[in-house]
Amino acid sequence: MTTTTDKSTTYVIDQMISAKAIAARIEDLSSLIETEFADTNKLIVVGLLRGSFIFIADLVRELDLPIEVDFLEASSYGNEMQSSREVKILKDLRGAIEGRDVLVVEDIVDTGHTLHHVVNLLRSRQPARLKTIALLDKPSRREVDFRADWIGFEIPDEFVVGYGIDYAQRNRNLPYIGKVRFT
Ligand code: IMP
Ligand code: MG
Repeated sequence: MTTTTDKSTTYVIDQMISAKAIAARIEDLSSLIETEFADTNKLIVVGLLRGSFIFIADLVRELDLPIEVDFLEASSYGNEMQSSREVKILKDLRGAIEGRDVLVVEDIVDTGHTLHHVVNLLRSRQPARLKTIALLDKPSRREVDFRADWIGFEIPDEFVVGYGIDYAQRNRNLPYIGKVRFT
């Protein structure tokens, strides 16, 4: 088990999902996405900032499809470990999605409020097809009925960091997914 100790903090990070396992899973997921969107003339891949930035970068490089990339930022936990439940759009898409095929890329589905809200918002813009993918899913934490179309890994109710995902803005640069353990 890989453990990272950050000297300025009171927690350690235990590896939960290795970089190799993530890469292998992304290869599998990209085949499923290619099949789903085989007939698209333009897929708009929408990353939810900031947690999905590494996932979307790795995912799009595995996609043999004509794509565009756009980003949307929804309000997040801030420096908290708790979901605020009220979701606000902090940065909207640059482009229109009406009549387009859209894939929303998220880091984690936790309570489900964020993706539920974002999907409802984007649906109201009448895309031709709207699908969702999340690297991680914590189904035991769900508060609204939401399921992403594709999930990388189902995980237990642990606070995780790395591979783009932060705790108080730290640890996004870890190449693997680790769980936070307070010491
Ligand atoms: P939801 O609205 O509760 O589903 O929360 C989704 C967002 O909460 C994710 O996009 C993450 O930014 C954040 N989040 C949920 N669980 C974790 C975690 O374990 N570590 C870091 N951020 C998390
Ligand atoms: Mg997020």
